[in-house]
Amino acid sequence: MSQFDVAVIGAGPGGYIAAIRAAQLGFKTVCIDAGVNKAGDAPALGGTCLNVGCIPSKALLQSSEHFHAAQHDFAEHGITVGDMKFDAAKMIERKDGIVTKLTGGIKFLFQKNKVESLFGKGSLKGRNGDVWQVEVDNKGEKSVVEAKHVIIATGSVPRPLPLIDIDNVNVLDNEGALNLTEVPKKLGVIGSGVIGLEMGSVWKRVGSEVTILEAVPTFLAAADQQIAKEAFKVFTKEQGLAIELGVKINEIKNDKNGVTVSYEVGGAAKTETFDKLIVSIGRIPNTEGLNAEGVGLEKDERGFIKVDGECRTNLPNVWAIGDVVRGPMLAHKASDEGVAVAERIAGQKPHLDFNTIPFVIYTDPEIAWVGKTEEQLKAEGVEYKKGTSGFAANGRALGLGKAKGTVKVLACAKTDRVLGVHMIGPMVSELVAEGVMSMEFSASSEDIARIVHAHPTLSEVLHEAALAADKRALHG
Ligand code: FAD
Ligand code: NAI
Repeated sequence: MSQFDVAVIGAGPGGYIAAIRAAQLGFKTVCIDAGVNKAGDAPALGGTCLNVGCIPSKALLQSSEHFHAAQHDFAEHGITVGDMKFDAAKMIERKDGIVTKLTGGIKFLFQKNKVESLFGKGSLKGRNGDVWQVEVDNKGEKSVVEAKHVIIATGSVPRPLPLIDIDNVNVLDNEGALNLTEVPKKLGVIGSGVIGLEMGSVWKRVGSEVTILEAVPTFLAAADQQIAKEAFKVFTKEQGLAIELGVKINEIKNDKNGVTVSYEVGGAAKTETFDKLIVSIGRIPNTEGLNAEGVGLEKDERGFIKVDGECRTNLPNVWAIGDVVRGPMLAHKASDEGVAVAERIAGQKPHLDFNTIPFVIYTDPEIAWVGKTEEQLKAEGVEYKKGTSGFAANGRALGLGKAKGTVKVLACAKTDRVLGVHMIGPMVSELVAEGVMSMEFSASSEDIARIVHAHPTLSEVLHEAALAADKRALHG
């Protein structure tokens, strides 16, 4: 039987990073993963993020943005484009190439760091003295490895909608939404969360008529509402996404006529038939097949593996990280938890600040934030001041043809410490890092205001928002 110091179950951004860090710290490490490639004929490391999540979605967002820009924006630069055609299959092929490159890269990193990689479903068999036995089921061929520590990083799966089965032909989850080889004429999306907005944007830009049906009456309820309102206006009025809020879905039929959704909104009954329907109503933790009950691994009422602030489960030397535990379901959160756990096993004292995890939605304009929203500060009774600045007069944004959006800095009214940074605009996925850094270093808005920002850059809008928080905006 193979013996290890650390066995990681799952090779998504939580698990593969935990395995690499553990190996770097000198532990004999194995990473067990059951993921397969799109064709289903070979193992594929990288989990949801690399195979059917972050990376493929961003590839499609870029392709569709290019097509849209060539159609609508090039003319003002004096560029005339002839008869334009869009080849969805080619876009998917490019995306698949990126996925294959990155998933193969993890295999290489495992080899480089001497992480043993095993294909199969891992489950906790039990304890043999001080060590855990983990069974690996490779299509019925079973083996057992032993390890002192186990890190569970089994991720999440799409939340099912009881009204309809996903067939990934007409009714799609994230996997199907990332693999359409023809542009649907009419696309329906249930859920105006991150996947709904990103995937809705992709297919809208390349010609679909997109309707998004959202249960909650508030658009992007978790985001700062000033930013959310601005986003809603751009997505609906300028980009033509039909977003219906406060919807109750009553029935969904998937037949030869298409996918027919009957719903209520504002007291009115409506029915729409779509060529394809994406169901993106959140994700749920994946603990299937882990034998959690068998070994007494505790879960919370929502099915997440229960952990403390340092990712310890109720079982000795069993840790859990990423989407399968509480907290935002984000790749960078999973990876940072993975690093922290490996370092804790090594006796180090790493710290992960959950208040400074950035959120990004890769629409156009992008939305990004870190820290508290104005709504949260009000609810908590925190006295704050704010400064906002827009991209409309920013030279770089004008040059890019993307002079739209706002940056808002929220700071403590007494100490000036930055409490939140909220943005909608071009490349704010990159700009948010400055907000994260500021908060991690307990910066004040004056600190950001006194830092020299290069000109002309998009970051000048954050600079100006920080100046505005101190009522000394220069361009406001
Ligand atoms: P996962 O990535 O889900 O990996 C879990 C792995 O464990 C999988 O490989 C699975 O096969 C394996 N596994 C499960 N059970 C077992 C078992 N019993 N034995 C062996 N292996 C097992 N996040 C961002 O931060 N940015 C984004 O832009 C972003 N975009 C996204 C877009 C989409 C469409 C989706 C669906 C998600 C997106 N996310 C994004 C979320 C991100 O993908 C997840 O937060 C992240 O993948 C979680 O990492 P993880 O390691 O916890 O789990
Ligand atoms: P989500 O939680 O972002 O959004 C789901 C939406 O569906 C919510 O607005 C919810 O109110 C709505 N909803 C739930 N039930 C409904 C129903 N019956 N009818 C209509 N609407 C309903 O989840 P989503 O978009 O599925 O994404 C899953 C997770 O993946 C995200 O929470 C995020 O953690 C991650 N992700 C991150 C991305 C990023 O960081 N850019 C991109 C895509 C996904």
